[in-house]
Amino acid sequence: MNPFYTELNLKLTEENLDCFKDYIKKSEAHQEFYYPKGTIIKEDLHNKKYNFIEQTSETLIDLEFLKTTTIKYLIDLFPQDLIKAKIVKFPAKKFVSWHIDLTRNVGFNISIFNSNSHTIFAEDYSTQEQIGQNTSIRELQYTPGKIYLFNANRYHAVMNLDEGPRYIIIIFISKQSNLNYESVYNLLLNKSLI
Ligand SMILES: [Fe+2]
Repeated sequence: MNPFYTELNLKLTEENLDCFKDYIKKSEAHQEFYYPKGTIIKEDLHNKKYNFIEQTSETLIDLEFLKTTTIKYLIDLFPQDLIKAKIVKFPAKKFVSWHIDLTRNVGFNISIFNSNSHTIFAEDYSTQEQIGQNTSIRELQYTPGKIYLFNANRYHAVMNLDEGPRYIIIIFISKQSNLNYESVYNLLLNKSLI
Protein backbone atom coordinates (compact mmCIF):
# COMPACT_ATOMS: atom_id res chain seq x y z
CA MET A 1 0.00 0.00 0.00
CA ASN A 2 1.24 3.48 -0.85
CA PRO A 3 0.86 5.17 2.56
CA PHE A 4 0.49 8.67 1.06
CA TYR A 5 -2.03 8.46 -1.79
CA THR A 6 -3.84 5.94 -3.96
CA GLU A 7 -5.31 6.41 -7.40
CA LEU A 8 -8.86 5.07 -7.76
CA ASN A 9 -10.28 3.09 -10.68
CA LEU A 10 -13.00 5.69 -10.85
CA LYS A 11 -12.45 8.99 -12.66
CA LEU A 12 -14.37 11.99 -13.88
CA THR A 13 -15.52 11.88 -17.49
CA GLU A 14 -14.56 14.65 -19.91
CA GLU A 15 -18.16 15.91 -19.63
CA ASN A 16 -17.85 15.97 -15.83
CA LEU A 17 -14.61 17.95 -16.09
CA ASP A 18 -16.27 20.42 -18.45
CA CYS A 19 -19.07 20.86 -15.88
CA PHE A 20 -16.50 21.68 -13.19
CA LYS A 21 -14.74 24.15 -15.51
CA ASP A 22 -18.11 25.88 -16.03
CA TYR A 23 -18.70 25.75 -12.27
CA ILE A 24 -15.39 27.57 -11.71
CA LYS A 25 -16.16 30.17 -14.38
CA LYS A 26 -19.55 30.90 -12.82
CA SER A 27 -18.10 30.99 -9.32
CA GLU A 28 -15.36 33.38 -10.44
CA ALA A 29 -17.90 35.57 -12.23
CA HIS A 30 -20.03 35.76 -9.10
CA GLN A 31 -16.97 36.12 -6.87
CA GLU A 32 -18.03 33.11 -4.91
CA PHE A 33 -14.52 32.03 -4.05
CA TYR A 34 -13.94 33.10 -0.52
CA TYR A 35 -11.25 32.91 2.08
CA PRO A 36 -12.11 30.42 4.80
CA LYS A 37 -12.48 32.28 8.05
CA GLY A 38 -10.02 30.58 10.31
CA THR A 39 -11.43 27.15 9.59
CA ILE A 40 -8.39 25.92 7.75
CA ILE A 41 -5.47 26.45 10.00
CA LYS A 42 -2.35 24.49 9.30
CA GLU A 43 0.42 23.63 11.64
CA ASP A 44 3.97 23.94 10.43
CA LEU A 45 6.77 21.66 11.41
CA HIS A 46 7.85 23.86 14.30
CA ASN A 47 4.33 23.73 15.71
CA LYS A 48 3.77 27.39 15.02
CA LYS A 49 0.28 28.10 13.89
CA TYR A 50 0.45 28.60 10.17
CA ASN A 51 -2.46 30.43 8.70
CA PHE A 52 -3.65 29.13 5.37
CA ILE A 53 -5.99 32.04 4.76
CA GLU A 54 -3.52 34.13 2.81
CA GLN A 55 -2.72 31.30 0.46
CA THR A 56 -5.93 29.83 -0.77
CA SER A 57 -9.54 30.57 -1.48
CA GLU A 58 -12.26 28.08 -1.99
CA THR A 59 -15.85 27.57 -2.98
CA LEU A 60 -18.20 24.94 -1.64
CA ILE A 61 -19.61 22.47 -4.14
CA ASP A 62 -23.24 21.51 -3.84
CA LEU A 63 -23.47 17.77 -3.09
CA GLU A 64 -26.44 17.51 -5.44
CA PHE A 65 -24.21 18.83 -8.21
CA LEU A 66 -21.56 16.24 -7.32
CA LYS A 67 -24.16 13.51 -7.65
CA THR A 68 -24.54 14.35 -11.33
CA THR A 69 -20.92 13.23 -11.85
CA THR A 70 -19.13 9.90 -11.39
CA ILE A 71 -18.11 11.09 -7.88
CA LYS A 72 -21.64 10.00 -6.93
CA TYR A 73 -20.43 6.39 -6.56
CA LEU A 74 -17.85 7.57 -4.10
CA ILE A 75 -19.86 9.89 -1.90
CA ASP A 76 -22.71 7.39 -1.67
CA LEU A 77 -20.32 5.19 0.34
CA PHE A 78 -20.25 7.69 3.22
CA PRO A 79 -22.89 9.33 5.41
CA GLN A 80 -23.82 12.51 3.57
CA ASP A 81 -23.56 14.73 6.63
CA LEU A 82 -19.90 13.76 7.00
CA ILE A 83 -18.92 14.80 3.48
CA LYS A 84 -18.03 18.27 2.31
CA ALA A 85 -16.69 19.14 -1.12
CA LYS A 86 -14.84 22.25 -2.18
CA ILE A 87 -12.94 23.61 -5.13
CA VAL A 88 -9.75 24.98 -3.67
CA LYS A 89 -7.94 27.68 -5.62
CA PHE A 90 -4.23 27.83 -4.94
CA PRO A 91 -2.51 30.96 -6.28
CA ALA A 92 0.28 31.07 -8.85
CA LYS A 93 3.89 31.10 -7.60
CA LYS A 94 3.04 30.05 -4.08
CA PHE A 95 4.48 27.47 -1.77
CA VAL A 96 2.88 25.97 1.31
CA SER A 97 5.48 24.33 3.49
CA TRP A 98 5.33 20.99 5.27
CA HIS A 99 2.12 20.46 7.15
CA ILE A 100 -0.56 17.97 8.00
CA ASP A 101 -4.18 18.97 7.56
CA LEU A 102 -5.95 19.62 10.80
CA THR A 103 -9.43 19.62 9.28
CA ARG A 104 -9.34 16.11 7.84
CA ASN A 105 -7.55 12.80 8.24
CA VAL A 106 -8.36 11.59 4.80
CA GLY A 107 -10.16 12.74 1.69
CA PHE A 108 -10.18 12.65 -2.06
CA ASN A 109 -8.33 15.08 -4.32
CA ILE A 110 -9.02 15.65 -8.01
CA SER A 111 -7.28 18.15 -10.25
CA ILE A 112 -9.34 19.91 -12.89
CA PHE A 113 -6.67 21.39 -15.18
CA ASN A 114 -3.12 20.48 -16.05
CA SER A 115 -0.89 22.72 -13.98
CA ASN A 116 2.78 23.08 -13.23
CA SER A 117 2.13 22.59 -9.55
CA HIS A 118 3.51 19.91 -7.29
CA THR A 119 2.23 18.08 -4.26
CA ILE A 120 4.93 16.23 -2.39
CA PHE A 121 4.87 13.95 0.64
CA ALA A 122 7.74 13.53 3.08
CA GLU A 123 8.80 9.89 3.08
CA ASP A 124 10.61 10.16 6.39
CA TYR A 125 9.38 12.39 9.14
CA SER A 126 10.61 10.54 12.18
CA THR A 127 12.01 13.76 13.58
CA GLN A 128 10.82 17.26 12.96
CA GLU A 129 14.35 18.40 12.20
CA GLN A 130 14.68 15.97 9.32
CA ILE A 131 11.69 17.30 7.54
CA GLY A 132 12.37 20.30 5.35
CA GLN A 133 16.14 20.04 5.62
CA ASN A 134 17.01 16.75 4.01
CA THR A 135 13.83 14.89 3.27
CA SER A 136 13.09 12.07 0.86
CA ILE A 137 9.99 12.99 -1.07
CA ARG A 138 7.26 11.31 -3.09
CA GLU A 139 5.19 13.33 -5.54
CA LEU A 140 1.51 12.87 -6.21
CA GLN A 141 1.44 13.63 -9.93
CA TYR A 142 -2.12 14.59 -10.68
CA THR A 143 -3.77 13.62 -13.92
CA PRO A 144 -6.84 15.83 -14.38
CA GLY A 145 -10.06 13.94 -13.66
CA LYS A 146 -8.39 11.08 -11.81
CA ILE A 147 -9.48 10.62 -8.22
CA TYR A 148 -6.88 10.17 -5.50
CA LEU A 149 -7.36 9.01 -1.95
CA PHE A 150 -5.20 11.45 0.03
CA ASN A 151 -3.60 10.80 3.41
CA ALA A 152 -3.80 14.22 5.03
CA ASN A 153 -2.16 12.89 8.19
CA ARG A 154 1.18 12.59 6.40
CA TYR A 155 3.38 15.64 6.04
CA HIS A 156 3.01 17.22 2.63
CA ALA A 157 3.81 20.47 0.85
CA VAL A 158 2.43 22.19 -2.22
CA MET A 159 4.29 24.33 -4.73
CA ASN A 160 2.61 26.06 -7.63
CA LEU A 161 5.19 27.10 -10.21
CA ASP A 162 2.51 27.86 -12.77
CA GLU A 163 1.59 31.29 -14.09
CA GLY A 164 -2.02 30.65 -13.11
CA PRO A 165 -3.85 29.25 -10.08
CA ARG A 166 -4.26 25.57 -9.44
CA TYR A 167 -7.79 24.28 -8.92
CA ILE A 168 -8.30 21.09 -6.97
CA ILE A 169 -11.56 19.45 -5.97
CA ILE A 170 -11.22 18.25 -2.40
CA ILE A 171 -13.76 15.93 -0.84
CA PHE A 172 -13.38 16.19 2.90
CA ILE A 173 -14.41 13.29 5.09
CA SER A 174 -15.14 14.70 8.51
CA LYS A 175 -12.92 13.71 11.41
CA GLN A 176 -16.16 12.83 13.24
CA SER A 177 -16.43 9.79 11.01
CA ASN A 178 -13.35 8.31 12.74
CA LEU A 179 -12.25 7.15 9.32
CA ASN A 180 -8.61 7.32 8.39
CA TYR A 181 -6.54 6.55 5.31
CA GLU A 182 -6.25 2.85 6.07
CA SER A 183 -9.94 2.30 6.79
CA VAL A 184 -11.07 4.19 3.68
CA TYR A 185 -8.46 2.32 1.65
CA ASN A 186 -9.93 -1.00 2.82
CA LEU A 187 -13.46 0.16 2.10
CA LEU A 188 -12.48 1.12 -1.45
CA LEU A 189 -10.69 -2.19 -1.89
CA ASN A 190 -13.88 -4.04 -0.89
CA LYS A 191 -15.84 -2.04 -3.44
CA SER A 192 -13.23 -2.73 -6.14
CA LEU A 193 -12.59 0.99 -6.50
CA ILE A 194 -8.84 0.51 -6.13
FE1 LIG B 1 -2.68 20.10 3.04
